[in-house]
Amino acid sequence: MPNNVFTIHSCSNCGAQYPKWQGRCNECGAWGTISQESQNIENKKTVKISSDQPINFQEIGLAEKTRFKTGLEEVDRVLGGGLVVGSLVLLGGDPGVGKSTLALQIAQSVGGALYISGEESANQIKMRADRLKADLADLKFIPQTGIEKIIATILDQKPKLAVIDSIQTVNSAESTTGFGSAAQIISCTSQLMALAKKSNIPIIIVGHVTKEGYVAGPKTLEHLVDTVLYLENDSRDFYKILRGVKNRFGSIGEIGVFEMTAIGLKEVVNPTNIFMESCNLPIAGTAISIIMEGSRAFLVEIQALASKTVFGYPQRKATGFDLNRLQMIIAVISKIAKINLSNHDIYLNVAGGLKVKETATDLATGLAIISAFLEKPISRDTLILGEIGLSGEIRTIAQIERRIKEAAKLKFNKVITAKNSAISNISGVEIIPVANIGEAIRIIA
Ligand code: TYD
Ligand code: MG
Repeated sequence: MPNNVFTIHSCSNCGAQYPKWQGRCNECGAWGTISQESQNIENKKTVKISSDQPINFQEIGLAEKTRFKTGLEEVDRVLGGGLVVGSLVLLGGDPGVGKSTLALQIAQSVGGALYISGEESANQIKMRADRLKADLADLKFIPQTGIEKIIATILDQKPKLAVIDSIQTVNSAESTTGFGSAAQIISCTSQLMALAKKSNIPIIIVGHVTKEGYVAGPKTLEHLVDTVLYLENDSRDFYKILRGVKNRFGSIGEIGVFEMTAIGLKEVVNPTNIFMESCNLPIAGTAISIIMEGSRAFLVEIQALASKTVFGYPQRKATGFDLNRLQMIIAVISKIAKINLSNHDIYLNVAGGLKVKETATDLATGLAIISAFLEKPISRDTLILGEIGLSGEIRTIAQIERRIKEAAKLKFNKVITAKNSAISNISGVEIIPVANIGEAIRIIA
């Protein structure tokens, strides 16, 4: 073998490289994907590299001009005010959640968009559009999977927005790795990123997410794009939640809420109480609190179940709530409020499939557990807000007035909260201040 050629073995699935052939890839676990590649390392001539011309920021126009609204308010909110020109957005979600529907609705709403599908034919898209009662006059469509053709078409058509459904079906004729392999997906995504930046055309790529949470391949895809949005089902399948998990041009705190109807995804304009169970009778073990997702407040119902431990160690299980936080709250109740929970299994659930990350719901969680343990329901017109400290003290929380105002609109008339919270008078709402967990328990017991 000549000196300037060396051989490596690389995996066609994930691109991992090895000095020797082996049957199974250590990185991705695939069998039979490793093959030999030769690389030529010809003596490269020294090339003189010219310098780059720096850009002066003052010469760049107002940033506002580089963003435009899609016209779907919930999508614009999650994007941080609209689509940024030249940005690459990944729209992920489980199969069947409604990604293609949302992508088509965005494309139709923006107008002058190019929809590229490797999954569905023009007829199928037309059928979907008919269901959505969407006017397709302004939408162009190509069924295409070859990345080179896709790029050439986008450059030629110069659409206001390009949608690619889905990135898993896109492939490159030049690539030697397998169809749909992670290495292909990554290479095609990087090419689309370069295209978006060069042409200033925003591109939305749809990607399938496996249950484990990654977009059919390594998480690296998330690093390659500007913005990552996930469309999720709520636990009862009533609503679809659009969540930003990465955004180079805005915050990721906001969520968008949709409902899947017979005519496509409908925006839920006032979603404050969608996560509540519909039953309005007081049941022992439930407490209501309010959490903030970005700029909006959502009511949450915390449900607890306390049942006698049959043998051994008491169980503590939580859905939608941090288990360590739950253990801490149980410890405070046992030690400070002197309620012995050591013979009880505690199960905690946040109704509606929300994941609570704030400590603002500590007190509601604690009182739901106590309500379940004592079998004493808490009145449904009472809202509970506050953080529990390790010594049992109740602490105030951020944006407390905003939360109470939202609750007042929904006819809550009592709020149990920390004693030192600075709250101005809100008409129709009685504030019940508590200094520690013991005082809070006396109110509901
Ligand atoms: P789809 O957008 O194809 O999901 P994905 O691209 O994420 O796989 O649609 C998912 C489901 O939505 C499908 O099972 C049918 C349903 N649906 C409606 O209920 N109403 C509608 O108007 C449309 C278009 C779809
Ligand atoms: Mg689809």
